[in-house]
Amino acid sequence: MSTSVRIAAKAKLNLALAVEEKRADGYHDLRSVFVTIDLADDVRVATHTRLEVRNTMDVGPDDLAARAVRSLARATSREPNAFVRIRKRIPLAAGLGGGSSDAGAVLRALAQLWKSDADLVRIAAEVGSDVPFFASGAAVALVTGRGEHVRALPAPRDQIYAVVTRPTLRLATRDVFAAFEDADREAAKHVDALVAAFEKGVVTPEFIRVHSSNDLLPGATRRCDAIASWQAAASARGIPLFLTGSGPTLFTIADDRADALRMARILKRAGIRAHAHAIGISRL
Ligand code: C5P
Repeated sequence: MSTSVRIAAKAKLNLALAVEEKRADGYHDLRSVFVTIDLADDVRVATHTRLEVRNTMDVGPDDLAARAVRSLARATSREPNAFVRIRKRIPLAAGLGGGSSDAGAVLRALAQLWKSDADLVRIAAEVGSDVPFFASGAAVALVTGRGEHVRALPAPRDQIYAVVTRPTLRLATRDVFAAFEDADREAAKHVDALVAAFEKGVVTPEFIRVHSSNDLLPGATRRCDAIASWQAAASARGIPLFLTGSGPTLFTIADDRADALRMARILKRAGIRAHAHAIGISRL
């Protein structure tokens, strides 16, 4: 019997993100198209006599991986005992969902170890807003509510590549939502257009570039001047940069792999660290 499960916990991009109404619990409902990218943390979960989480980066006291263990244990009436080891590659507080992806991977790995058929997406919603998407294992999805509703969408037939920047700054989600204004809303129609195109299997890089839109961009820019500077520098070189999540990571969509490598080089020369990544690859 295997006593350890290892999962590549992928990062995500929000191809489009619409902020809807503010809810009674203080959170905003969202409507967003999520895709995974091939930048991943390495998560290993093993049976253990107590709860121990080791992480190569200091993720602070609000550890989503530990919360994931406790939530699944509670839901399945077990002791929250597990050994979790996380090798971080996804930057923290970047808009790439790294902590949430680790938590989703912990839920999936632990469900295998414990031979549990618990509803991981439902349990994930207790752990954090972005965790249900990662717990679902979908590579592309429409995510709604606070993140608890995940509708998997067909992955594009042809591999699509993104170029993802690597800012060294961090931006707190809370601060970006606090800077959000009602007049910032414009992404809803773009989310709907992308969902329809993914469903019909007619998504192209150009289509994604036209519809990449994020209602949190104005708020993120109010909190972080550098975002506007990066966008201006890239735009002057013919590269549109879009925001993922609450930022500050920006990305663009390439025509193909060679185009992704070319744009990453141009951005690096302009002083913006960036890497090419494949998007929307199904769970391994
Ligand atoms: O998800 P997390 O707890 O990190 O979010 C931090 C803060 O960001 C929340 O307390 C809330 O103020 C805001 N937020 C929001 N709507 C969301 C997600 C976060 O208003 N869907």
